[in-house]
Amino acid sequence: MAQKIVVTGGTGFIGSHTVVELQQSGFEVIIADNLSNSDFSVLANIQKITGIKPIFYQIDVCHTESLKQLFEEHQEIKAVIHFAAFKAVGESMQLPLKYYRNNIGSLVNLLETMDDYEVKNLVFSSSCTVYGNPDVLPVSEQSPIKQAFSPYGNTKQICEEIITEAKNGMKLSAICLRYFNPIGAHPSALIGELPLGVPNNLVPFITQTAIGKRDKLTVFGSDYPTPDGSCIRDYIHVVDLAKAHVIACKRLLSEQNRTEVEFFNLGTGTGSSVFEIIKTFEKVSNSTLKYTIGARREGDVPAVFADTSLANQELGWKAELDLEQMMQDAWRWEQYLNELN
Ligand code: UFG
Repeated sequence: MAQKIVVTGGTGFIGSHTVVELQQSGFEVIIADNLSNSDFSVLANIQKITGIKPIFYQIDVCHTESLKQLFEEHQEIKAVIHFAAFKAVGESMQLPLKYYRNNIGSLVNLLETMDDYEVKNLVFSSSCTVYGNPDVLPVSEQSPIKQAFSPYGNTKQICEEIITEAKNGMKLSAICLRYFNPIGAHPSALIGELPLGVPNNLVPFITQTAIGKRDKLTVFGSDYPTPDGSCIRDYIHVVDLAKAHVIACKRLLSEQNRTEVEFFNLGTGTGSSVFEIIKTFEKVSNSTLKYTIGARREGDVPAVFADTSLANQELGWKAELDLEQMMQDAWRWEQYLNELN
């Protein structure tokens, strides 16, 4: 019998790719998602890729009774992967309480329900944002946790702390995965990122500009202390990231985790500048991108990229897809969306 995994936020960007990888690894997936930032059609597209329809609960993970019902109706849940959260850094500055209520409330509710139903394995969706502006590059898991730049970032730090403390009062084995910059889309071009309104993130903005939805890209600052003056980030293909979640689940299920709560960086280990991203996009799309240089964006750190050796050694995981593949898949996805409209 297939082992059951609950994926909260399973119709979102990283969640949907993880559902595909889980199904392709033989797990039975139950998605809990309120569709607040995703679309019902994602379910059908997951099925087109894998041939398997995921079980779906349109529920808010903050809602105790709905979550209980899911756990009640599915005995023998082996693990939960918790993605469901708000993630817009800028919005979190305007509406901090919305972020604290949702991102923290959902985790606490989930942990209590897991405890009630004796489900002990949790994979948590964290972020490199917990490192703030790092003093030393690349950033390892030993790097200090710095004061968060935004309520969004703070919720990730607080959630990691909650998980660390929750293990004192319940049976819990957790892996917190700290993502660097997830981009790209599934190579089938059936699932990808669906930003609502004007995208905040670089790659969706680039692809929307190239397709004609946006006038031009603004590069936020070219006077940073980096080789070409633009910010450096560690971009990682969402499929590589999704695969790491399957490995994390298997590690918990086979009790190979070394401590009750573990933390891993997920990146490629290589930093790329905004200008390098633009060049790579132009190469794979065989086009010229319209862009202008603007002011720095508040809260941006000049450079951050991962030391991935812990994930490489302990999880036996390594990012495999390169920047060209990431940009190619992101571009194919944008073209697919355009054809739908
Ligand atoms: N950028 C531009 N123009 C744009 C958008 C972005 O020049 O229109 C630049 C940014 O200044 C930054 C880089 O592109 O240098 C990447 O920006 P993103 O917004 O794509 O990503 P961030 O690194 O700012 O944010 C990501 C995640 C957050 C997470 C953060 C942690 O999206 O969820 O990493 O550092 F909090």
